[in-house]
Amino acid sequence: MASLALHQPTPHICRNRHVMVVCTGESCKNAGAAELLHDLKHHHEHATGDLRISESKCLHRCQAAPAMVEDGRVMGWMSRMRLKLELLRLGLLN
Ligand code: FES
Repeated sequence: MASLALHQPTPHICRNRHVMVVCTGESCKNAGAAELLHDLKHHHEHATGDLRISESKCLHRCQAAPAMVEDGRVMGWMSRMRLKLELLRLGLLN
């Protein structure tokens, strides 16, 4: 009987595709989520990779508002500068 090699399927990783979800719940709205969304949409026009942007209800990180999710990682205390640095780090801006 031939042995079977069990292989886990390798997840398809696309390094140029990024998803950013901005919380637009009440605390984050009061802490500047609208400016983050505005900046994201502006940068999206000039992005060099595949950037998906969306909004969400409360992420339950209100104590760290404004919060957002970057490629599945929740990030708190976001600022416009930190957002720009993240986009640069991901290679989405020149
Ligand atoms: S309102 Fe944004 S985490 Fe709760």
